Amino acid sequence: MEHSGGQPAEVDITRPSAARVYDYFLGGAHNFEVDRQLAEQIAGLTPNLAETMRANRSFLRRAVRFLVDQGIDQFLDIGSGIPTVGNVHEVAQAAQPRARVVYVDVDPVAVAQSRAILGDDERTGVLQADLREPDEIVAQAVKLGLVDLDRPLAILLAGVLHFIPDTDDPAGIVARLRSLQVPGGFLLISHATQDGQPPEVLAAQRLSSRTDTTINLRTHAEIAGFFGDLTLVEPGLVYLSRWRPEDPAGEDEHPERVGAYGGVARR
Ligand SMILES: C[S@@+](CC[C@H](N)C(=O)[O-])C[C@H]1O[C@@H](n2cnc3c(N)ncnc32)[C@H](O)[C@@H]1O
Repeated sequence: MEHSGGQPAEVDITRPSAARVYDYFLGGAHNFEVDRQLAEQIAGLTPNLAETMRANRSFLRRAVRFLVDQGIDQFLDIGSGIPTVGNVHEVAQAAQPRARVVYVDVDPVAVAQSRAILGDDERTGVLQADLREPDEIVAQAVKLGLVDLDRPLAILLAGVLHFIPDTDDPAGIVARLRSLQVPGGFLLISHATQDGQPPEVLAAQRLSSRTDTTINLRTHAEIAGFFGDLTLVEPGLVYLSRWRPEDPAGEDEHPERVGAYGGVARR
């Protein structure tokens, strides 16, 4: 995407944005030169990063299909990013046409692109909001008429919690979201980790502080803690490619390479 004047006024194209850097890695068109430069710099340090991002999308798609199989038909996708092929509503609605999805992102470009792509689809909504304000997000999703808190809701936190530093109390934020779910609801988390990672990853992490948000790598125990008293479904919190792979026979021998865990838990 070039600076054609089509993006919202508040978009700063002189600073890289995490959502647009991610879009570039996924082969999307919604990024600027400043994002591409940073993406290339990060990729030079961590050649596996593009693979991590693809592994994350793939985990998300498998998990959404699993959630639909569990009877879930309402999704709150926080930190949803710029919609790319195989987005949550496409996967969910392919299996369950009634499924409703609310996409939430703090980045104005991600929000504007989501709105443009979704148009007036009545089963999807887009909110510009900050994960640090969980009550506000849920209240707005309810107001849109797309989320009913009396019914099981899947809350998706894919690749977003690592943007929340400990000083902003990520555990408290997730606990609040969990407390709004009735039994039968699910929580999905994918999160970057330092476990099993070489030193280059830590250098790339320092580079990420040039976007609006720094990545906070966390251990398996720390990430598992975000699920609180919910019950992790099999196989638990695992490296992304190990979560219910479509082809268990073609098992990835070095799943730690992607440097991120994923899990799904039931209330
Ligand atoms: C790596 S992308 C993940 C996109 C998608 N969930 C996925 O897993 O493919 C992270 C997204 O989180 C968004 N984000 C970062 N901090 C956020 C916050 N505090 N509140 C809401 N969204 C946030 C970024 O703008 C970005 O679009």
